[in-house]
Amino acid sequence: MGALRVESFGRTSERSWNSIAARIDEIENDCFGAGAFAPDELRRAFNAPRNLAVLLWDGDLLIGYTQAEPRRGGTYYIANTAIAKRHQGRGLVQLLMQRLYADVRAEGGRFIERDAAIANGYADAVLRAHAADVLETFDHDSEYGPQRFIRMRVPPP
Ligand SMILES: CC(C)(COP(=O)(O)OP(=O)(O)OC[C@H]1O[C@@H](n2cnc3c(N)ncnc32)[C@H](O)[C@@H]1OP(=O)(O)O)[C@@H](O)C(=O)NCCC(=O)NCCS
Repeated sequence: MGALRVESFGRTSERSWNSIAARIDEIENDCFGAGAFAPDELRRAFNAPRNLAVLLWDGDLLIGYTQAEPRRGGTYYIANTAIAKRHQGRGLVQLLMQRLYADVRAEGGRFIERDAAIANGYADAVLRAHAADVLETFDHDSEYGPQRFIRMRVPPP
């Protein structure tokens, strides 16, 4: 295990998309299987001018990411969060989220929205972690199975 670190990624990053695209695709497929975004969708999501993304590294190995896009009214929608299976269960999602929330605040964002899977317990975990900031939730079906929509304030630093 190497040193853990998070890194913001965007169109202006020194790191090139080409240097991480294959590993992002690998993690995406590892985590989502048939529901994975296609390589083109990932490229667009990570490189669109105003989108935000955060990478999680264990030494030289990319092990996770989260990615968000701006919506109206100071809101960012978290479209994708994944940590490679063999690195899950170490409490690392919080590192990704803290950096993403900092980047959202730096862009002037005040609200976060996401659709979180219900079946694997992620929606409940997000609500436990963010109870103080949640503004609205509702459950709905999707092509990826039952999801919970969550709207919340961007947590304070
Ligand atoms: C979802 C995923 C990124 C979480 O990573 P993980 O390594 O399994 O979870 P961790 O060990 O880092 O963290 C779990 C703890 O972090 C906290 N946590 C969970 N989500 C959080 C969030 N969004 N922000 C801050 N803290 C969070 C919770 O306290 C949770 O503890 P609890 O369940 O005991 O309450 C990972 O399981 C994954 O990639 N899953 C497959 C893809 C997926 O389902 N992505 C989500 C899209 S709906």
